[in-house]
Amino acid sequence: MHPLTQPLAGMATSELFAQYVVPNYGRFPITIARGDGSWVWDEAGKRYLDFATGIAVCPLGHRDPELMRTILEQSQTLLHCSNLYLNRPQGLLAQFISERMMGAPGKVFFCNSGAEANETLIKLARKFGSVRPGSAGPRFEVLTFEGSFHGRTMAGISATGQAKVKAGFAPLLEGFRHLPWNDLEAVKAAIRPETSAILLEPLQGEGGIRPASGAFLQGLANLCREHDLLLMFDEVQCGIGRLGHFAGWKAIPGAESIVPDAVSWAKGMGGGLPIGSAWISARPISAEPGATPLSDVLGPGTHGSTFGGGPLVASVALTVLSEIERRGLIPRATELGAQIVNTILSWNLPAVREVRGIGLMLGIVLQPGEPGATPTPGARLTEAAMSRGLLVVPAGSDVVRLLPPLNVSSEEIDQALAILKSSLASL
Ligand SMILES: Cc1ncc(COP(=O)(O)O)c(C=O)c1O
Repeated sequence: MHPLTQPLAGMATSELFAQYVVPNYGRFPITIARGDGSWVWDEAGKRYLDFATGIAVCPLGHRDPELMRTILEQSQTLLHCSNLYLNRPQGLLAQFISERMMGAPGKVFFCNSGAEANETLIKLARKFGSVRPGSAGPRFEVLTFEGSFHGRTMAGISATGQAKVKAGFAPLLEGFRHLPWNDLEAVKAAIRPETSAILLEPLQGEGGIRPASGAFLQGLANLCREHDLLLMFDEVQCGIGRLGHFAGWKAIPGAESIVPDAVSWAKGMGGGLPIGSAWISARPISAEPGATPLSDVLGPGTHGSTFGGGPLVASVALTVLSEIERRGLIPRATELGAQIVNTILSWNLPAVREVRGIGLMLGIVLQPGEPGATPTPGARLTEAAMSRGLLVVPAGSDVVRLLPPLNVSSEEIDQALAILKSSLASL
């Protein structure tokens, strides 16, 4: 008998979760049962426009024919081998990332999530700091920013500039300091002999859709060069075309020419399958002749992941990235984003303070609620939209994120906007 038809399936999904699933997420009370294109259906058959996409995970929406074909073909060929051996999809994916997404010489490490991709960057900063020590010995400190989010592992929450993710988990990993966002002078003042890297999201997602300014990013790049620090971008949420560029920071005016030392990507890269990646520049670690390329600092035995870059997920990610490019979805993200922002602003609704973001990573900033009061304005708008058939995602208490698939149609955007308008008016 199929496990789903056995007697225990008699429990409702909400009962299964209440009894058997660790309650670490605040979940909305609907069960998503299937998806197609920009739409998902719950168990009761109600249809929703998916402007959450698993929090920026499904750039091609659901049941994309090319993705389904790749999954079928690769699963009939080879699901897994091991990183003891080579596999061609991983090599081709690394080539695509370096050549097409970065356009700069470098190498890629593959893992399974955004947190692991950031762990890789943090380990790279430590290793770099040990082979390029400062006046006080090995350098280990990574400067990060208030409002940032870098994942839920111990290093991830230590790097994250939000107190709520750290509560109850002391002692944290040492070697992080969180500086005010977009404040170059604060960064200048903070650099000290043990500092080895600066890690930031070019557009903060969980922190409320807050973009870095081009001048800030360029200033950080200059500081990193001056002080021999690594400039590391966490593009887990804002990368993969959503901002109107594969490499999200290139969509920020004034930051187009920056070549960081390392970049983490995850979420949208696998189209719904778990993959994370850390691109590392091949620039030499010093000006000495024959100096090691930064991309070789994590040498054999220094890092690893059993499932990282396995043939199934690597071939799916390669399909996702090449289909995003082939279908022209990246320039479209810029156009559609501008259309959404202008429409929402044209409503002049008192509930909306601002619309922030770039391309198809947008945040509607609402009037703040009473401190500590629940539900927050963001949760209220999310629930109002959900009841009308639209999924969106809160980011902090007063911001609601719109993260549609990159292949969303103009008609679907119009439908979503109509729901948002009536939901905002109902607040
Ligand atoms: C910017 C950023 N970094 C890292 C992460 C962690 O990614 P994951 O949940 O895949 O570990 C997230 C997840 O939301 C994120 O938004």
